[in-house]
Amino acid sequence: MSKTMNHINEAAKYIKEQGVIHPEVGMILGSGLGEIADEVQDAIVISYHDIPHFPESTVVGHEGALVYGVLNGTHVLVMKGRIHYYEGYSLEEVMFPVRVMHALGIDQLVITNAAGGINYNFEPGDLMLIVDQLNFTGTNPLLGPNEDELGPRFLDMNAAFDKELQHLAHKAALEQQIELKEGVYMGVTGPTYETPAEIRMFRVLGADAVGMSTVFEVIAARHVGMRVLGISCITNLGSGMQTSLNHSEVVATTERVKEKFKTLIRAITGKMK
Ligand code: HPA
Repeated sequence: MSKTMNHINEAAKYIKEQGVIHPEVGMILGSGLGEIADEVQDAIVISYHDIPHFPESTVVGHEGALVYGVLNGTHVLVMKGRIHYYEGYSLEEVMFPVRVMHALGIDQLVITNAAGGINYNFEPGDLMLIVDQLNFTGTNPLLGPNEDELGPRFLDMNAAFDKELQHLAHKAALEQQIELKEGVYMGVTGPTYETPAEIRMFRVLGADAVGMSTVFEVIAARHVGMRVLGISCITNLGSGMQTSLNHSEVVATTERVKEKFKTLIRAITGKMK
C-alpha cells in the first residue's frame, strides 16, 4: 500500500476510534462561516493536531478541528478550519482531509467559502450556489502518480457539482425564503486579492465569483466519487468594482449574513440523509 493510502487509513482509524461511527455528510466551512459547527448536537470535537498526518490550519478566523454529530437529523463531520494552499501546504495536504472523509464512508460533501462577486447582479451578503468551477490556480492536485485505489488517472469533471444536490439546495432555500443565486466559481491561489484587470478577465472567462479555496477539494472529492455541493458567500465585490478590499471586510460580511447562511446549511443538511 502507498504511503498516502497508509496515512489516510491511519487518520481515519484514529477518527473512528474517537466515536465517529457513521458520518453521512462531510462539510468544509469557509472564512467566518464556521459557526454552524457549534450547532452540531452530541458533538465530538477532534483537534487536527491530534489526528495522525493531518495538516493544521493557521489562518486568522479559522479553527482547526473536526466536529462530528447531528445537524438537523443528519450525521455530519464538519471541518472547522480549512487547509489553504496559500498557507504553504502541499496540494497533497489540501486533499488529505477530503480523502479521509471518504475513507470514513462519507459520500456527500458540502463545501462553503467566502468569495468576491464578479457578476454585476451580485452584492455583498448574497449566497451563491456553485454550479461549476474554473481552476485558475495554474496547478492540479492530482498531478503526479495516480492513487489507483482512490480514483481514475483521468478524472471526468463534467459533473463537478452534483445536480441533485443543487436541486435540493434550491428547494431548501425556497422553503426558508432565502435567496440563493447561482454561478461559476473561479479558484485562484491567492493570497493577494485580484487586480481590477484580473477581475475583468475572469468575467470574460465566465466567472461569477472568485476565491482562494474549493477547487482542489472539489477535484479530490470527485476523484474518490463523492458528490459535491458548493455554496459561496459573496463577501465583497471584486477588485475594481469597489474601491478597496481587505480581510476584515470579508469577515464582517460573513458575520452579517451568518444567520441566513446557517439556516440554509441546516435546511440543506436535513435533506441530505
Ligand atoms: N477575491 C479572492 N478571494 C476572496 C475574495 C476576493 O475578492 N473575497 C473573499 N475571498
